[in-house]
This record gives sequence, structure tokens and C-alpha cells, in this order.
Amino acid sequence: MNEKILVSVAWPYANSDLHLGQLAGAYLPPDIFARYHRMRGNDVLMVSGSDTHGTPITLTAEAEGVEPWEVVERYHRSFIASFQGLGITFDLFSHTDTENHWEVTLDLFSRLLEKDHIFRQTMDALYCPECQRYLADRYVEGTCPFCAFEDARGDQCDNCGKPLDALQLIQPRCKFSGDTPVVRQTEHFFLDLAQFNEPLQEWVEKQTHWRPSVRNFSLNLLNEGLRPRAITRDISWGIPVPVEGYEEKRIYVWFDAVIGYLSASIEWAKNQDMPEAWHAWWDVDAPARAYYFVGKDNTFFHTLIWPAMLMGYGDRKLPYDVPANEYLTLEGRKISSSRNWAIWSPDYLSRYDPDPLRYYLTVQAPETADSDFSWAEYVARNNNELVGTWGNLAHRMLTFAYRNFNEQVPQPGELTDADRAILDEVEAAFGPVGDDIGACRFRAGLTKVMAVARAANRYLDAAAPWKALKEDRERAATATYVTLRVVDSLKILFAPFVPFSSQQLHASLGYDDALFGEQEAVVYQESEREHLALTYHHEPKGDLWRPSELAPGQPLRQPTPLFRKLDEEIIEQELARLG
Ligand code: MF3
Ligand code: ZN
Repeated sequence: MNEKILVSVAWPYANSDLHLGQLAGAYLPPDIFARYHRMRGNDVLMVSGSDTHGTPITLTAEAEGVEPWEVVERYHRSFIASFQGLGITFDLFSHTDTENHWEVTLDLFSRLLEKDHIFRQTMDALYCPECQRYLADRYVEGTCPFCAFEDARGDQCDNCGKPLDALQLIQPRCKFSGDTPVVRQTEHFFLDLAQFNEPLQEWVEKQTHWRPSVRNFSLNLLNEGLRPRAITRDISWGIPVPVEGYEEKRIYVWFDAVIGYLSASIEWAKNQDMPEAWHAWWDVDAPARAYYFVGKDNTFFHTLIWPAMLMGYGDRKLPYDVPANEYLTLEGRKISSSRNWAIWSPDYLSRYDPDPLRYYLTVQAPETADSDFSWAEYVARNNNELVGTWGNLAHRMLTFAYRNFNEQVPQPGELTDADRAILDEVEAAFGPVGDDIGACRFRAGLTKVMAVARAANRYLDAAAPWKALKEDRERAATATYVTLRVVDSLKILFAPFVPFSSQQLHASLGYDDALFGEQEAVVYQESEREHLALTYHHEPKGDLWRPSELAPGQPLRQPTPLFRKLDEEIIEQELARLG
């Protein structure tokens, strides 16, 4: 039976291009997962969008002397281009400035307010007399009270990952003027997280399939006890609060951003002309599972805050898994935008192909510990594994068959034990690799696929159909057929990870259909403005996740190499661009 799988992907702040750390942490894994489930014939709904509110956006706008919406528009476009270039197949990539998103956010806000999960209270807040404004979140920095990290921000410490309240910072300083803020009183709405401490604890305890780091981090915070958290701010950019006296305040960016998963699902359904279709993924009793793909620093919001909001709202499905990733370092150092210690996805795509990056970031994924991206390793993996092992296997066999067997898949004779053994080996990989992907162990899954490609190379070297060609044409035909069939299966196993090359190979093997659907950037007219979104169209094809049944006689197409060898020289060139 088809399963309904909600693939929720962290909403990137629209204040810079995407870098490789974000791709490895939050964007590539859900695409592998979504493609796999679509190949299984499951109903995937993969949603995300640009996170357009809060201090991350206004800080960038102020630094550049432009309006926040200009920043948002620029990077929203950039995200869409990157996702198209990398093949990240969102069913909908929207943003948080749509009418629909505002409506859904206010619906949650009102229902939580009605049910007394939200209350108003006067609080102490930091205020900069110099700048004459309240400082919250990224407007204020200081020393973390938990780990003594000196550049902790008013919302969170990037060093220990703990969520913070700006008032907890030791020696706080204004991000703009550097001045020491004073404490002032201001009224805000609070989400009463304390009410949810017990139900959350009970729920998280049961999530034994979560990554231990994610579950333990969440349980620790619950053991310390959650406190109410302000969900409005004294800023002018964001969703207005429909309450008298709140004209100068806005909804806190995190409160509305997590709601994006739901609002984008609703927007998607409207766009399909099936406005109720989203319920199949979201109703509490719907036979569906929701996965949230995020980086480590977003864990708190997805394992605790969003579930609390959903519990409070009622009738909505809680996350099934939150496979948060650790960090990717770059050449052994922490990625830093301000120090330009980063590789930006538009820049990468201007020189290189998407599949080698998808491959390397997956075999090297920061799933259970931080991992490192290095250009030398990128080149080595591309040249040895993609070109040398997988690409070479596929290309030499296709070329050989194309030239020597009349541009067709040859007719095999009787199979030897070795022939059967390699066919069995590749067939046996579908279960475990699928299990790995289904359990979000992408690194393990891809490693298994490459191991089969290695075994196939050994088989081919031993079978050597090019030697048999003259004296035993049937033997040559059989070995060629067997290898092509193995390649055809490997094409499927590799497809969620490196979809572009698998599609290319699919065509070379003579198939006419497409393995995957198509991405399209579309512009919708909203009442006041245009709304640019990325969508994905595909025709469900039943279960594609199975071994090849390649038909003898199938016409082949002129093969082209799947990957290109990279010159070692690029390593130095790329290193010179950093910093
Ligand atoms: N914008 C946040 C970030 O880039 C992620 C938001 S995820 C969502 O870290 F939950 F809010 F959607
Ligand atoms: Zn800290």
C-alpha cells in the first residue's frame, strides 16, 4: 500500500546564498529520502520555503541599507536556482510572506490563545539607549551562561546549541553599537511551554528510533524543565499581531517559521486544486509519517517547540523523526560566512556538476558526528569512485555493447555461477539499501551501493567479454548482458543519491521514460504581489525500487560518460578562493 510521507525541510533564512554545510545538513538528505520514497511508489509531500522574517533578515537589510523584502527576494530566487541546479525536488518551496502563510499562522496563534496555551505578560527585556530599540535574538550578543562561549546570540548559543533568552547572556552587547543594553519592561505573548513539559517528555521517551544525539539533547532540556517563551518581538518586520496595543510588535520568526510546514502543505493542496488533500499527511489519525530534516542547531524547535504547538492546537500529526545532522566543517575549520570560509552553492554550480557533490556530501555526511569537506577528498572521490568505479563500469560496458552487439542489449546464453553470483549480489542490495535510506542512514546506504559497483567491476574484469568476443561470442554476449543488467540495477540503487547520472544512464540503456519528474519555478499572482515558488511534477509509476529486468534486444543509445575526471589542479585553485 502507498504510504504518505511528509518530508519537512528546514526553512532557510533568506539572507544569504546556501552553502555546502546547509546542503549536507538539511537539503540533500531529504531529497534522497523523497526520491527513494517516490520510487517506491509512496506519496511524498516535500515542503519548505524561505524563512523571511526576524533579525537575520533585518540585520542583513540594515547592513546593506536596503529594505528587508529586497534581501528576501534576492535570496529566495537564489535558493530556487540552487535547488534546481542540485536537483532538490521540493513538491513546494514557498516562503513565509504569502497570504496563506499569514492566515495559517494567525489561525494557530488564535487557537493556542483560546485554549490558554498562550498568555500575555510584561517582561524584562534588553534595550539599547544608544540605538533606541529593544534588543532580542540576533540584535544582541554576549557570553553564554552555559558554556562561556563569548559570541552567543540572544536566541541561541551556537557553541553548545542551547536555546537562550537574551537576558541570560553575560555581558550583553548591542550588535549595532556595541553598547551595553539596559533592562526595560515590555509586554509580550508567551507560549506556555511548561504546560507541555510532561506530555513532551512522555512522547520523546518513546521515540527510541530517533538518533541518540537528538533524543538525548531533547530529554536533557525536558529534564531541566521548559519555561514559557516569548513569541512576539519589538520589531517592525514580520507577521503583525492582531491584538490592540501590539501595532509596533511582530510574531517571533521561529513561531511562524515552523508553521510553514503546515501552511506550505495547505498551499500545495490549493495549487493542486485539491484544497483538502493536505489532511492525508497531517491529520492525527492519518496513516502518514512526518520527517523533519534539519541541522543540529534547529533541533530544539523541531523536537520540542513545534510538537508543543501541535499538541496544543490538537488533531495534527507530530513528527515521526527528526534526523538532525551534526556540522560539516570545511578543510578542517568551522564554516563561517563572515570570514568567507564557505563554499556557496551558486559558485559551486558555476564550475561543477551536482552529482559529485551529492555523492561526496552523502558518503561523508555529518550524520552522527561532525565531518569534513576537503577539495582534495572531493577530487579523489570523484575520480576514484564516481569516474573510476561506477562511471567506468557503466561506460565501458555500454560502449562495448553498443559497438559489438549492434547497438542493442545482447541475447544471453546460459549463465555461469559467477554470472548468477553478481546478479544475486545486486538484487540482494535492494532490501538493505532501502532500509538504510528509509531509516535516514544515507551514508551507510550509499556506501553499500558503491560496494556492489566494486564487485561488479571485479566480475567484469574476470569475465572479460572483450577477450571472449572472437572465440566464444555467446559467452561474450552473456557476460555483457549480465553486466548491463547489473548496471541497470545499480542505476536504480544510485538514483536517489545521484539522480542526474542515473537518468542519463537510463536513457543510454534505451529507456524512453524519465526516472524522475520535473522541477519548475512558477509565479503565482497573489492579490498584491507575485509569488515565486518551486514545484515538482511527477507521474507515480508504481514500485521502481527493484532489480532490473533488462530485455535482450532493447536498443541502446550512444553512451556518453556519466562523470568527468577532475584535474588535481583545481584543489589549489579552490583553496585559494577560501578565506
Ligand atoms: N531559518 C532557520 C535557519 O536557517 C530554520 C527554520 S526551520 C523552520 O536556521 F522550522 F522554521 F522552518
Ligand atoms: Zn553555550
